[in-house]
Amino acid sequence: MPPALKVDAVTLFPGMIDAPLSESIVGRARQEGFLELGFSNPRDFTEDRHRTVDDRPYGGGTGMLMMAEPVYRALKAVRKKGSTVILLTPKGRRFDQRTALELAKKKHLIFICGHYEGIDERVTPLADLELSIGDYVLTGGEPAAVAVIDAVTRLIPGVLKRSDATVNETFTDGLLEAPHYTRPAVWRGKKVPPELVSGNHKLIAEWRRRQAESLTGDTRPDLAPAPKKARSAAKKK
Ligand code: ADE
Repeated sequence: MPPALKVDAVTLFPGMIDAPLSESIVGRARQEGFLELGFSNPRDFTEDRHRTVDDRPYGGGTGMLMMAEPVYRALKAVRKKGSTVILLTPKGRRFDQRTALELAKKKHLIFICGHYEGIDERVTPLADLELSIGDYVLTGGEPAAVAVIDAVTRLIPGVLKRSDATVNETFTDGLLEAPHYTRPAVWRGKKVPPELVSGNHKLIAEWRRRQAESLTGDTRPDLAPAPKKARSAAKKK
């Protein structure tokens, strides 16, 4: 059976992606054939004696840039009709759960990972999508690719053993998740909220919803849905 998702990474440092994605749930998803992960290294597509992949930027400036041609060739070696090509860059659209859900429907994703100061801009049009994992600068696109591949892989049906595990989670309904507790019921004097041990499912669901709303309002007001009144007023306009 072909894997549910094939991912190729165009990277100078395959180990930065392969190692973290060999552990835990994603590692098991690879072993069980849900995810097939491959690599295409621009250095293998150079023709000079030094296998050069980077050069100084035109116009001056600090640092080195990845050259267009080795990246282009490494991409061409793995790209097929129907592949979705994603360039990881702090200048990209912010990656979120909605994008993870979109990407989980695809059959083949290719991640282009910049390193050093980035990649020659002429490579950018080869990508269908530019993604950033947040407003900070990493040493390269590799850790960002790991984050995106991880978030997408766990959404492949069958990867998480409980099929409902992704339904009520943080971000899926636009809210942060309510806090969770496990045994013991009292730990170092701290008790589990009584609603959770009540056995009353309606009460538990209401408690979780209230907690999720107040947590989201406090720490991520940008995510919190507008209060009902404001929403209906906005609709009327
Ligand atoms: N490369 C360097 N920083 C990055 C970021 N924040 N997101 C995606 N790719 C990156």
